[in-house]
Amino acid sequence: MEIPLSLYIHMPWCVHKCPYCDFNSHTLKQTPDYAAYINHLLADLKQDLPLCQQRALQTIFIGGGTPSLFSAELIDRLLTQIHQLIPINQNAEITIEANPNSVDVARFTGYQQAGINRISIGVQSLQADKLQALGRVHNPLEAINAAKLAHSLNLHSFNLDLMHGLPNQSLDDALFDLSQVIDLSPPHLSWYQLTIEPNTLFGAKPPRLPDDDNLWDIYQQGDALLTAKGYQQYEISAYAKPGFKCQHNLNYWRFGDYLGIGCGAHGKLTQADGQIRRTVKTRHPKGYLQGRYLAQSYLVPKQELPFEFFMNRFRLIEPTPKQEFIERTALPLQTIDQPIAQALEQGYLTETAHHWQVTEHGKLFLNSLLELFL
Ligand SMILES: C[S@@+](CC[C@H](N)C(=O)[O-])C[C@H]1O[C@@H](n2cnc3c(N)ncnc32)[C@H](O)[C@@H]1O
Ligand code: SF4
Repeated sequence: MEIPLSLYIHMPWCVHKCPYCDFNSHTLKQTPDYAAYINHLLADLKQDLPLCQQRALQTIFIGGGTPSLFSAELIDRLLTQIHQLIPINQNAEITIEANPNSVDVARFTGYQQAGINRISIGVQSLQADKLQALGRVHNPLEAINAAKLAHSLNLHSFNLDLMHGLPNQSLDDALFDLSQVIDLSPPHLSWYQLTIEPNTLFGAKPPRLPDDDNLWDIYQQGDALLTAKGYQQYEISAYAKPGFKCQHNLNYWRFGDYLGIGCGAHGKLTQADGQIRRTVKTRHPKGYLQGRYLAQSYLVPKQELPFEFFMNRFRLIEPTPKQEFIERTALPLQTIDQPIAQALEQGYLTETAHHWQVTEHGKLFLNSLLELFL
């Protein structure tokens, strides 16, 4: 079976750097040459084409940073030229991330005409004081209007990003956010617990967050609310109405292949001989815009593949087909006989002739489960 191929495109600028964010995003000091960046993305893609082995793209994800800073004309030029370089599956999911303060009807409609069929909007919270504490530059109404606009376009799907476990957030605050967001009827919802990352402003000066008991209540009751409203959890932070899972992220988690173009983008490509190559692009826009795209390219050592495979695969709630391990790692099942036996014995996994399934106990001790494969 051919390994599915996706394309990730990174847009590295934001109007303002959020204090919790460790994504590769740079604050706008002056307007960058967006058109030049698009040309560099295409040149970057051309250099990667020999890694694709004639496969068509199954999904495209334009992420950031804030991709919605790019005009619809530029996104159209980008997608049109990608089409000329590489086949794109007719039903490919094509997503763009948008911040609520950089959207309007003309821009969203233009994206749709350019071939975008899924928009992901960073709502984060619908309470003004929480947005302020998160350093967001939009208010609740702008987020609601952006979601209503996405809904009105009849796109294939749209996603809202919401965070919980925010500074001074009570259980009621978190449930208020969730129910407001559910009322906007997104087919997909990413519901992330705020994490404090070392290289961020919050990392240097951590805010006071809800304690573990409160976090647990928020998670339990939020999950129950989402389930009652018809959302299925398919990954720790990902919820979707039936038929609306994010195909792009599923491909990452199922250990599929992906090209990564743009500042700091990562790629993973299976070669004809079954070995897996990882690529990393130049992180800073300055170097990237000088035409230095590739920062690293290396083969993943065979002994690291089981850990890498399961680290991605066990994030998903669905069972893991044994055949997928063989196809995606090019390793025989016998390679992992010992760690699998230990995982079964410790109650982290169950198995059938064709699948493995992480148990509830395994989910609670995911790190210990994964360490068996190191
Ligand atoms: C690549 S970011 C960008 C999307 C867009 N720029 C925005 O902020 O609206 C994707 C999502 O990751 C989540 N995120 C970023 N940093 C996080 C953190 N430290 N903890 C939890 N979620 C985080 C946010 O919900 C964010 O919308
Ligand atoms: S969370 Fe989004 S808007 Fe904020 S800095 Fe990160 S990428 Fe930019």
